[in-house]
Amino acid sequence: MGFPYTRMRRLRGSASMRRLAAEVRVSAANLVYPLFVCPGTNVKEPIASMTGCFHFSVDRVVAEAQAIAELGIPAVLLFGLPEHKDAAGSQAWSPQSAVCRAVAAVKQAVPELVVMTDVCLCAYTDHGHCGVLADGRVDNDATLEPLSKMAVAHARAGADVVAPSDMMDGRVLWIRRALDEAGFSETAILSYAAKFASAFYGPFRDAAGSTPGRGDRKSYQMDPAAGSQAMREIALDIEEGADMVMVKPALAYLDIIRQAKDRFDVPLAAYHVSGEYMMIHAAAEKGLCDLQATMLETLTAIKRAGADVIITYFAKEAARIV
Ligand code: PBG
Repeated sequence: MGFPYTRMRRLRGSASMRRLAAEVRVSAANLVYPLFVCPGTNVKEPIASMTGCFHFSVDRVVAEAQAIAELGIPAVLLFGLPEHKDAAGSQAWSPQSAVCRAVAAVKQAVPELVVMTDVCLCAYTDHGHCGVLADGRVDNDATLEPLSKMAVAHARAGADVVAPSDMMDGRVLWIRRALDEAGFSETAILSYAAKFASAFYGPFRDAAGSTPGRGDRKSYQMDPAAGSQAMREIALDIEEGADMVMVKPALAYLDIIRQAKDRFDVPLAAYHVSGEYMMIHAAAEKGLCDLQATMLETLTAIKRAGADVIITYFAKEAARIV
């Protein structure tokens, strides 16, 4: 029966009533904060393209990790910058890489913090692609070995979770095998399973120095217009041994998040990426919308779509107010 017997506004009449009726709530417990680690010492350098984010050297990242844990955020995702790049991206699997040293330092100082590492060659190759090149194209199968070595190096340094973001076919299987053979059967894999070739990665690529010198990533990252491939990508990664899967970006792909949540029974992460983050900052700076309210509404929407875990540069800001 409709109006006047049914009045939807009854459920919205007070803050307490709204709280009671809320179905999803953003919580610090499901957030992951990405961190950029770089070579050198005593570096805490603001990242020009990403408001509020920094490049940290290993010695400075520990205090940051402590502050993150104190906010109730359970996990960080580490991205590394190399000392120098080459065609193979060989620093990616060096035990001396900034990432490996940061993992060890953070796990020592804040053992309860879950440390995830991004596994991809793009910040380490001089051409900026996520894999090894052969005749100017990214060679899928030749990339599996270096990625596996990188994952094992991170696991050996103490990473709890490795997160391959390269989008090569078969990499989850290769990484799982390599981890198990090296004695790291406890190290989990969070695969960037449905990662789209997105314009929203722009600010990150400035931060990580990972813009491809020539061409784009459309031959390996997904086409935004071909959404159903996301379900196949996720199914394959789960079959290959992924413990958790990710949809990326988040806000422009809420439909994909919902489909994945309805379909699969593994923890689902969504990556609220750099461009999505900076759009909100840019709009707020112009006085067009309120930063906190827009942030919270966005994270709530990602959760409502079905994400269990949200990777976001807003994690600290959000943890302070939720
Ligand atoms: C590396 C990687 C990228 C991001 C995460 N891992 C960039 C890319 O694929 O070009 C993007 C993260 C962001 O924009 O916040 N492959």
